[in-house]
Amino acid sequence: MSPSFEATPEIVATSRGDALDRAVDTLRSGGLVALPTETVYGLAAAMDQPEAIARVYSSKRRPTTHPLIVHLAESPQLLVHAIDIDPRALRLSEAFWPGPLSLLVDRGPSVPDSVVAGGPTAVFRVPANAFTRTVISALGVPIVAPSANRFGEVSPTTASHVVASLGQEVDLVVDDGPCPIGVESTIVDCTADPFQILRPGAVLRDEIESVIGESVETARGEARAPGMLASHYAPRATVLLAIDEKDAEAIRAALPEDRQPVVVLGRGIEAGAYAARLYADLRSCDEESVRTVVAILPHESGIGVAVADRLRRAAAAR
Ligand code: TXA
Ligand code: MG
Repeated sequence: MSPSFEATPEIVATSRGDALDRAVDTLRSGGLVALPTETVYGLAAAMDQPEAIARVYSSKRRPTTHPLIVHLAESPQLLVHAIDIDPRALRLSEAFWPGPLSLLVDRGPSVPDSVVAGGPTAVFRVPANAFTRTVISALGVPIVAPSANRFGEVSPTTASHVVASLGQEVDLVVDDGPCPIGVESTIVDCTADPFQILRPGAVLRDEIESVIGESVETARGEARAPGMLASHYAPRATVLLAIDEKDAEAIRAALPEDRQPVVVLGRGIEAGAYAARLYADLRSCDEESVRTVVAILPHESGIGVAVADRLRRAAAAR
């Protein structure tokens, strides 16, 4: 029998001399490129390539009613692609970009309907990863990029996660090592008054409030952004939440044999490191056919808020 092999997309490291040209050429000719960001890897299409945008949805198996984040090379481009921007939103862009903050504002005519399910708003961000920003400036148009995973699954924080999730549905994967933050950007709805945090991330509520000089709300109830669906960011293993190590041990000890093997996550780790490795850990649990993940909730301050948010969604009944 001939050796079996899985076809994989081409992976190019950012350190390679031709990486920039390869990424830009692929996007310009309507291809899909997985690009590194400081949060998670994104599945990028050029915003002026309608067929590539359609493929972003189909390769992720993502309903087209779930809009994509528009990634810009630098803050001033917000003025080109958004309209009626609240001055407080501009202050946030100046304070946190490049960085893990996404701003929901009214979109201008340059943002195609297909990117935002025909709605009046779009979410924008300037990623911190220098290679990816260089790709966007060299391309000359923004990229749209959701996380490079199948809809509802755990986001990728390494190039090999992207390959495992999307295989050949992506034309090129740019490898810049593990994403330093590890959970998706904070999303702020700047069309609500007061502003609302739709998804917590590494830019913290306190930091946002101190820049705009007023309090912001945390969105509740109806899912405003699909990242807010109760069940999301989910591994195949069942995720049970524990309030501390002792609780985790009690839960583990009570699990029947058919719920094993079991892995405990979050023991003796500070929240930043927990965030950085969370998705990799959940993915390894699935690879090792772990049946139950007992995840210890971090203290809900700092990035612990985002980690607890993702753990609750991973634990939500499917
Ligand atoms: O950190 C991140 O934001 C990563 C990296 C790749 O940049 N991207 C990311 O994209 O997490 P995605 O598509 O996986 O999550 C974006 C979330 C989705 O829940 C999407 O529905 C919501 O933002 N969203 C985007 N545009 C929106 C809009 N106009 N109105 C409401 N929700 C929107
Ligand atoms: Mg996602």
